[in-house]
Amino acid sequence: MTDHFSVKMTDLNFDKKRPPAENPLKIEDLSLRDGHQSLFATRGRTEDMIPVAERMDEIGFWAVEVWGGATFDTMHRFLNEDPWERIRTLKRYFKKTPFSMLLRGQNLVGYRNYADDVAKAFVERSAENGMDIFRTFDALNDYRNFETVVAAIKACGKHFQGCICYSMTEPRMGGDVYNLSYYLEKARALQDMGADTICIKDMAGLMAPYDAFELIKALKETVSVPIHLHSHFTSGMSPITHFKAVEAGVDIIDTCLSSYAYRTSHAAIEPMVMALIGTNRDTGFDLPALAEINNILEKDILPKYKHLLDDSKVSIIDINVLLHQTPGGMLSNLVNQLREMDALDKIHDVYEQLPKVRKDLGQIPLVTPTSQIVGIQTVNNVLFDDETEKYKMITSQVKDLCYGLYGKTPMPIDPELQKKALKGYERGETPFTGRPAAILSPELDKAREDLKDITTDIDDIILYALYPVTGKKFLMYKYGRENPPDDLKPRTLEEVRREQELIKKAKAGQLVEKKKAAAPEKSEYARSFNVFVEDEHFEVVVDEPDGPPMIYAVPQQTAPARQPAAAAQPQSPVRKTPPVQAPKALAPAPKSAPKAAPAASAAVTPGSAGAAKKSETKAPADSQGTPLKAPMPGMIVRIDKKVGDTVKQGEPVVTLEAMKMENALSAPVSGTILSINCNVGDSVAKNAVLCVIG
Ligand code: CO
Repeated sequence: MTDHFSVKMTDLNFDKKRPPAENPLKIEDLSLRDGHQSLFATRGRTEDMIPVAERMDEIGFWAVEVWGGATFDTMHRFLNEDPWERIRTLKRYFKKTPFSMLLRGQNLVGYRNYADDVAKAFVERSAENGMDIFRTFDALNDYRNFETVVAAIKACGKHFQGCICYSMTEPRMGGDVYNLSYYLEKARALQDMGADTICIKDMAGLMAPYDAFELIKALKETVSVPIHLHSHFTSGMSPITHFKAVEAGVDIIDTCLSSYAYRTSHAAIEPMVMALIGTNRDTGFDLPALAEINNILEKDILPKYKHLLDDSKVSIIDINVLLHQTPGGMLSNLVNQLREMDALDKIHDVYEQLPKVRKDLGQIPLVTPTSQIVGIQTVNNVLFDDETEKYKMITSQVKDLCYGLYGKTPMPIDPELQKKALKGYERGETPFTGRPAAILSPELDKAREDLKDITTDIDDIILYALYPVTGKKFLMYKYGRENPPDDLKPRTLEEVRREQELIKKAKAGQLVEKKKAAAPEKSEYARSFNVFVEDEHFEVVVDEPDGPPMIYAVPQQTAPARQPAAAAQPQSPVRKTPPVQAPKALAPAPKSAPKAAPAASAAVTPGSAGAAKKSETKAPADSQGTPLKAPMPGMIVRIDKKVGDTVKQGEPVVTLEAMKMENALSAPVSGTILSINCNVGDSVAKNAVLCVIG
């Protein structure tokens, strides 16, 4: 069946009710999920959705997407909001429009496959809390990862929307992997699974208009369920792609309200409504009503989020995505990761290597979580590989992927890489080919047990099962066991106004700087030091306010080659000396000391429940031993050893989460754990000494 598209213009008087179209294009609005996820790092707060909710409910959207994707993670981690509460709250304002969520198949709203008991409970609780449409995808398009959640969605009597992740290996649709027959076969499989609708999920905005036409037309001829198109704007193609899809007979498309549209988000709704007025695909939407919603958003809501908008570029189109197929969200992750590691200059190496890493990993589609898996592994390769060894630091997730824990990759994984990744892998060295979750043990009972002193609420237990570290922190705040830090609090419009006032004043040159206190006279004890930071040299004069400076002697180094960074920390003060003329009297510090020493003492940020135990894990007095340093900034998620344990070289000691990927950091030498300088939940800087092995 094809819907013939024709342009029959009628009257444009907005006050006049338009006659209904023969086959109106249905629209799902994504502003309250994918919109702010794409533009403002998912930081939108529930309180900022309420002012427009009732008006949005009147528009006539097929559905509004309000949950899932990154919202669950971001809300409890960065906004101190209960993700479950958002559905219940918004449901009070949206009385007519169905709610849609993005469900990552067996990954739910996290980054790994969860056990079946968690998956089933998650869907049931989502439905109970008010979710209507479950847009379900799997990063590998392996629908065995749908089995548990689909059964639960159906049992709850809810709408199962099956997704096909749109991916490419060529500049246009085709090639050996992602060709037309690939998509048609996936669509048939989804229909057979009972999909109520099928969504083509073009997360990177790679779908070209004529490919959309060919694909949608073929899909309409192959399956009978309605076809939905989700195509991000990123590359700039999506508005034209939408039009070719409409011509080919697509049933539903995704858009955002214009203030949440474009860049890495989606095309705006308003031009589409306008363009279709008077045609047989007329949406029937009220343009002035949409304009009113945008007024509220622009005036009262979005100023609070503007600072999160990446305005480093003037262009709203990202041409890189066409050249490198790197989705927008992934790109900003990579840039952040490289920036934190002072390696932003390596971004072009990352672009260059990314297709190679993707190929090695079986040409997987790039969507959460595979986009992070491929992206961060590429960053690791660029930063840590050398001539002698490739894939020097393999993330836990790549190991899981090589084992088969995410499912079947479209192409085989490079056998050499697979062998290397699975060497010593905890589940075994032979890859598993069954349904991934079949080998996962139930997880809910343990979560229930872990929380029994805090809560018995099933929604809390699921939150903790999905996010044990940050979920626990959130629940401690929720139940008043700990006070949330200020940076989790919302930004008010008043604060934004004050900030803007200051900027205005500064620009007008009216900002009066505080007078600096006059510098005190230099005393006779003032001494000059040469300070070298990498290649830069500074001369610094040091003069203590009361009396001569205290000089700490650094002990003679017996084994300079192995001296840990911690050795540069002040030892016991030896004597109070009179001014010393020659700085050379101080022993030269080990080469890595200037950077690593502060990290060793200051990198661990307080705030975790375990921080109080710090005293028993401080560095030993003799400081002998080899440090295990954080190769990148991140959060400690697991410590496998304790002080006094013996470790073999290469054995994992600490697991560091960086950009959602876990890196098992292994012992650089064999020996005994002399000290552990971090706790689970700590954020650590690059080069922080996590433990010392001697
Ligand atoms: Co999306």
